[in-house]
Amino acid sequence: MIDQTLLPREFKVIECRTLSALKEAILKMRVRGAPALAVAGAFGVVLACKEIAASSQSQEALKKAVAELANLRPTAVNLSYGVQRAFSAALRGGTAEEMFEEALKEAKKMLAEDLEVNKKIGENGAKLLKDGDVVLTHCNAGRLACVGWGTALGIIRTAVLKEGKRIHVFACETRPLNQGSRLTAWELLKDGIPVTLIADSASAKLMRDGVVDCVLVGADRVVKDGFFNKIGTYMHAVIAKEHSIPFYVAAPLSSFDLRRSEKDVKVEERGKEELIFVGREQIAPLNVDVRNPAFDFTPLRFVSAFVTEKGVFRPEDLENLEKSIQNGSQNGSISV
Ligand code: MRU
Repeated sequence: MIDQTLLPREFKVIECRTLSALKEAILKMRVRGAPALAVAGAFGVVLACKEIAASSQSQEALKKAVAELANLRPTAVNLSYGVQRAFSAALRGGTAEEMFEEALKEAKKMLAEDLEVNKKIGENGAKLLKDGDVVLTHCNAGRLACVGWGTALGIIRTAVLKEGKRIHVFACETRPLNQGSRLTAWELLKDGIPVTLIADSASAKLMRDGVVDCVLVGADRVVKDGFFNKIGTYMHAVIAKEHSIPFYVAAPLSSFDLRRSEKDVKVEERGKEELIFVGREQIAPLNVDVRNPAFDFTPLRFVSAFVTEKGVFRPEDLENLEKSIQNGSQNGSISV
């Protein structure tokens, strides 16, 4: 995987050859972004199967390792989704070796699927963008956050790189870990897509000034009454509604968890050091009290549309989407 903590200073690919190395990479956010976490989680199950087989441990030990892995980052549903999928596949195997093989097959399938799904999200969402549009985005929902291509940024990439539209992006820096300035700005510059970096708190002024045509973000979990995404998303949504600016959410169906609602989801709280330091630089008193929720919830009424691999849905269509998912037709047709 690309070590995302080092970007944009250094591009380094790291290998996680043990479950504990992978868990460290997830916790430290060397790999991050909901869809990337799903695939990382699936490969984590592969590593767990390998280690359990090598040490002749019981299936109980595997179950425990898998549960711990799934809960490392609790807000994005994708990590537990990926872990669960690979674990269910592993259970199809009889011997420890067969379990490893089955999990590996499933993880590789998810790797390929993610790219396909992202490309479809790109095609479906690009229809919402007009030539000349200015799009505001938050955090990083690009290829770094997925296996490749990206969800929210994937839509912008499709519109620009495949359809030749001129799109300008305002990338919010996304404090405290700066996924916007470190990752989104880096990705867009690499693609030659015009990007302007802004402080998170500048979004209200820019929307009030009338220079933003739409807001486009990813999601960590879509539930029946709204969606969770990187802290700061909710404030952009409220401001967008105040100024009648469309607010779009791009996410694969694997991010939809429509049987749950806001109250059922745990918002990850991260360490105080993320606010007290920038890199090694201390920017706040060491003994100050800190709250650091990593995600926030945006109610459905602020969302203009969800863009998925199966099409574009208005929030009021989510019920139909839930029925389709329940009927197991994630691969079937859903009314758009
Ligand atoms: O804490 P992170 O960096 O994993 O949070 C990521 C986000 O909030 C993204 O917007 C979301 O996962 C969508 S990624 C396609």
